Amino acid sequence: MTAAAVIEAIGHYLPGRRESNDELALRMDTSDEWIRTRTGILGRARAEPGQATSDLAVEAGRHALQHTGASVDTVVVATTTPDRKCPATAPVVADRLGLGRVTSFDLNSACTGFLAGMSVASGLVATGAARGVLLIGAEKYSTIVYPDDRGTAPIFGDGAAAMVLRAGTPDEPGAIGAVHLSSDGSLWELAHVRAGGSLRPVPDPDDPHDAYLRMNGRATYRHAVAEMAASCRLALAARGLAAHDVDRLVAHQANVRILQEVARELGIPGERSVVDLTDIGNTAAASIPMALSRAHAAGTLTGRERLLLTAFGAGASWGATVVTWPHLKPHPAPHLAPHPAPHRQVHPTTEEVNP
Ligand code: COA
Repeated sequence: MTAAAVIEAIGHYLPGRRESNDELALRMDTSDEWIRTRTGILGRARAEPGQATSDLAVEAGRHALQHTGASVDTVVVATTTPDRKCPATAPVVADRLGLGRVTSFDLNSACTGFLAGMSVASGLVATGAARGVLLIGAEKYSTIVYPDDRGTAPIFGDGAAAMVLRAGTPDEPGAIGAVHLSSDGSLWELAHVRAGGSLRPVPDPDDPHDAYLRMNGRATYRHAVAEMAASCRLALAARGLAAHDVDRLVAHQANVRILQEVARELGIPGERSVVDLTDIGNTAAASIPMALSRAHAAGTLTGRERLLLTAFGAGASWGATVVTWPHLKPHPAPHLAPHPAPHRQVHPTTEEVNP
């Protein structure tokens, strides 16, 4: 029998700082009422200025690894906001977690990154290339969101969440089956950062938004609902399941109205849709494992629930899969360290050179 990647442990980390809607309204033309009613978000988690994506990833990885004796030979970090353009963030995270010489790489599929990572982890385990995978979704969107942009700043938050997957059998609870993934690159402009890549390395000095995320909110909303619902239907059909077989819908935490509409399109009662963004915002590639880890820590996921996971993100990319939640050791939410272990800096940052 081909080995399957099986969920062994989960964990998360949220930076302690929160930015409320009222704080945002002090510096941009918006209001608590507008943000609350359009997005369902009351506050978002913000990393401290010196905290890098790897710092968040290390804390989430540590939280997940605390709860398992499984050994890890592969680390995958799904992120849109890596520490640097080169090298990848995953080797740094693996080193700081003391995992030694392991396979490690990053994966960028924006908010669909964690589902893509689950698919990759399954493939690595199925071929025997990996026996224990630490898959982390980690994001510091505050580095790519223009602080005064009312279209994006209210939505995104910083955070990381991690899952340990071990080699097991496809019929076990927690086994990852086929993940439906798709994309449409003609929609790349829906959400994009124009400068900073090979196409346009240097931001236009006359355009302060050039190095920051631009998002067509209304079009993103429309595509997100349509593609997540369609992807969920395919994932359910592939398993011979119907909407009424789903105990919990865990959709990428983009916006509470998107979550409600996807559930409605699928005919899944609203109360079965997990809502995890109210106090932390949209944590992009971290949002699905974050919702799972926080539900597990709160005791609302206890094992045997059939979960429908789905995401939509920049690219545009999207996907869905069905997984039966395994019985995991209970764990509390991580203790919030006021100042996480400092990021190991070999050279000073630009800010340190040019304060
Ligand atoms: N506060 C107050 N007004 C705002 C605002 C804000 N933060 N952001 C936009 N507006 C204004 C717009 O300027 C527009 O004004 P106008 O009618 O005078 O031109 C009006 O509100 C409506 O804008 P629109 O963008 O059509 O609003 P919306 O109802 O679509 O809500 C989003 C905007 C961003 C909340 C919504 O489109 C959304 O959530 N989209 C999905 C975004 C997302 O989840 N992205 C991540 C996916 S991975």
